[in-house]
Amino acid sequence: MALLPSLVAFASARFPRLSSRVLASSGYTLDLDSFGPDAFGVWELAAAARQDAAWRPLVSKAIAGSPREDVAALWASLAPVVGADTTLLEVGCGGGYNSEAILHRFPGVVYSGLDLAASMIDLAEQHYPDRSFVVGTAYALPFADASQDVVLDGVALIHMPEWKRALAEYARVRRGHVVLHGLTLAESHPTTMFAKYAWGQPSLELVFNRDEIRGECEVLGLQLGDIRTCLDYDLDPYIGIPSVSETWTLS
Ligand SMILES: C[S@@+](CC[C@H](N)C(=O)[O-])C[C@H]1O[C@@H](n2cnc3c(N)ncnc32)[C@H](O)[C@@H]1O
Repeated sequence: MALLPSLVAFASARFPRLSSRVLASSGYTLDLDSFGPDAFGVWELAAAARQDAAWRPLVSKAIAGSPREDVAALWASLAPVVGADTTLLEVGCGGGYNSEAILHRFPGVVYSGLDLAASMIDLAEQHYPDRSFVVGTAYALPFADASQDVVLDGVALIHMPEWKRALAEYARVRRGHVVLHGLTLAESHPTTMFAKYAWGQPSLELVFNRDEIRGECEVLGLQLGDIRTCLDYDLDPYIGIPSVSETWTLS
């Protein structure tokens, strides 16, 4: 194992709460009960603000011409499927910073963002008062059938225990494509739920078996097209499941 991932894995395992103040992710475990009862709630303001603060410089860098791998993957995935007046709903929009990156690159897009956490939507509305944001759940999207040209999952499906229900909602609401951004995928392990601190927030996360999620998409009439490599996100040092992160375009 290289030195930096080893150090991060060590700090994450030995000092999960402390390291969660500086690491986006820490304290990985397959023992979901170890976080205590009712640990996994909607994201609180402190975690939302930490994520937001980390993302602002990344968006500025992307706009200045140096997108990180995940922003580059998002842009490359959207390029063939958006144009003038394309309606795009981002599910799990967080503080809305993807809207800035998307609208910078694709100014014709008509963007809406939805998130479960009111804390996130508050931040999004403060930053971008002229854009449309709503508090809601991916499990029952407050949008009509076939009402959005593109439904973008903004690294949110990996946090949804009822991910099949969310996928069915994406298939219902989309008129054109579904883009699943930042999917964590394993080849030979079953779909597995684990827990960690995300920006200090106890958080559930999934690593999907590639064939299972692809099969579920096909059942819903969503055919996998483009695959883009996202950030390096190998869970092997943390929970013993080798993984990659990808962005999928489905039609
Ligand atoms: C990792 S953040 C992603 C934020 C941003 N889209 C990005 O790409 O960085 C995941 C977001 O998904 C939201 N989320 C989790 N479960 C959700 C659900 N069932 N419905 C809607 N949003 C959800 C969380 O509140 C959180 O803001």
